[in-house]
Amino acid sequence: MKRVLSGVQPTGDVTIGNYLGAIKRFVELQETTEPFFMIANLHSWTVSQEPAVLREKTLDVAALYLAVGLDPKRSTIFVQSDVPEHSELAWLLQCMAYFGELGRMVQFKEKSEGKQNVSVGLYTYPVLQAADILLYQADAVPVGEDQKQHLELTRDLAERFNKRFGDTFKVPEPLISEFGARIMGLDDPTKKMSKSAPSPYNRITMSDTPDEIRSKIMKAVTDAENEIRYDPENKPGISNLLTIYSLFSGESVEQLVERFRGQGYGTLKKSLVEVVVSHLAPIQERHRQLRQSGAVLDILKQGAERARAEAAKTLQDVKEKMGLVLR
Ligand code: AMP
Ligand code: TRP
Repeated sequence: MKRVLSGVQPTGDVTIGNYLGAIKRFVELQETTEPFFMIANLHSWTVSQEPAVLREKTLDVAALYLAVGLDPKRSTIFVQSDVPEHSELAWLLQCMAYFGELGRMVQFKEKSEGKQNVSVGLYTYPVLQAADILLYQADAVPVGEDQKQHLELTRDLAERFNKRFGDTFKVPEPLISEFGARIMGLDDPTKKMSKSAPSPYNRITMSDTPDEIRSKIMKAVTDAENEIRYDPENKPGISNLLTIYSLFSGESVEQLVERFRGQGYGTLKKSLVEVVVSHLAPIQERHRQLRQSGAVLDILKQGAERARAEAAKTLQDVKEKMGLVLR
């Protein structure tokens, strides 16, 4: 069975972009693969965090994984920092990664732009991500479009290591869907929806109330044409709304364009509000129950034990090969 690994950072509130681009697919994949899903809390520290908030957000993401349908019997669900092998392999891989290749990472450039004090962790972040993946010998990594370059680096590091030390790491494939891998911001449909965009009108979060969802969708930026048509290039706003609609409802974009033909943007938006609200309501209810039940901590503890057993095997092999195990 194919191994899958992915992760979400517990920074800010998880958006429907994270859900549609990544998390929703985790649930589909757990039926046919052997999956590891982590909460990337070490990655969160690439920018400063409030410890008490980080702790709560970590539990929130774990509860969200469960609320959307990840089953701890099928999926190993764990917190990155509970498996110290991630940090240890990250160091060893940092010694194999080149300064120049990390400097070319688009996400680093975007996140560091205009900032005075940029942490070294933000710079080496993709190497930690490579360690996350390679420790589990993952065949495939389901992510949104923005992670493509990090996956290429992961593959390069795996190949570099294997070339020097012999077969050690599985070289993983990115799993980026054709459709929905880049949900755009509602306030600016030329940029991706993001947890960290300054305006809350950029995103719908998984915990937004029906009123918040309504007001954000009704205010979403469109165009002056008032013709419902899928054309991401010339009509990014409407195309983004159609994409979101399609992924939540299961109807194809063609069906939606047909159904809303001749109607105004207001009609499409109102209908989309209903679709999003009704999809999120049961998830939010399960999330609330899970957060109250205390079950999440036990699941994470078991997940970490399972993950550690796998990670330790790979790390031991790496250390042997690098001359770090004495005999
Ligand atoms: P992050 O918020 O950076 O932890 O992202 C978690 C996952 O969501 C990653 O696989 C991202 O590629 C994916 N993702 C983030 N933003 C979007 C977006 N706007 N559209 C689709 N996928 C996204
Ligand atoms: N870097 C990813 C993001 O920002 C999160 C992440 C951390 C991840 N480790 C990973 C994704 C391993 C896939 C595999 O979205």
